[in-house]
Amino acid sequence: MNQIAVAIDGPSGAGKSTIAKTAAKTLGFIYVDTGALYRTIGLAVFRKNFDALTPDEVISVLPEISIKLKYIDGAQRVYLNDEDVSELIRTPEISLFASRVSVIPEVREFLLDMQRDIANKNNVIMDGRDIGTVILPNAKVKIFLTASDEKRAERRYLELCGKGIETTPQEVLNDMRKRDEKDSSRSLAPLKKADDAILLDTSELDLQQSINAVINIIKNATNAED
Ligand code: DC
Repeated sequence: MNQIAVAIDGPSGAGKSTIAKTAAKTLGFIYVDTGALYRTIGLAVFRKNFDALTPDEVISVLPEISIKLKYIDGAQRVYLNDEDVSELIRTPEISLFASRVSVIPEVREFLLDMQRDIANKNNVIMDGRDIGTVILPNAKVKIFLTASDEKRAERRYLELCGKGIETTPQEVLNDMRKRDEKDSSRSLAPLKKADDAILLDTSELDLQQSINAVINIIKNATNAED
């Protein structure tokens, strides 16, 4: 049972997924992108074309949803009722839906056991907003990863362009601020640094430096108790 859990939390565009994915591969851990879970519920709800998107409407969809994570060559794929939605959930529209559904307690509850279950069975690097504070409060290593708004927006813009999604730098910055505000100000499991998390600001680091910094933090913390 004694699995190692690394919790990486932080705002959108801080590089959590890219960094965590590579660090997990290097260390032989499973990388769990919990944002994908909220995005999948966001997609399921989006497809319902609700007018107002009330909490009751969102909750009414949950019984129809089965989410599975599979790991193919170490990469996470996410399935909504057996449909691979790994790419469909990455649009700016679904980002906002994910953020909107994530404030609903029943949605968070729906995903809680699934996240803990994966961490019970595997050495994981799990990224999200509330991993170190709520999902895995006893994680061996907690990192709060952040960067300046401008840097984060610039990175997210380039990432979306690379995926062929049309947008502008200003639109990305505006969407990101809107989402960060929503994620940080919600009363339930807000985006927040855990008291015992190590703060890592990647504004002035390139990708490789950020990955090295994360791997060093994990190695130091896990070797310390060997
Ligand atoms: O990490 P991401 O951008 O893919 O996450 C999408 C949304 O899901 C994010 O705006 C807030 C929500 N989320 C959350 O509330 N808790 C998590 N652990 C992960 C994501």
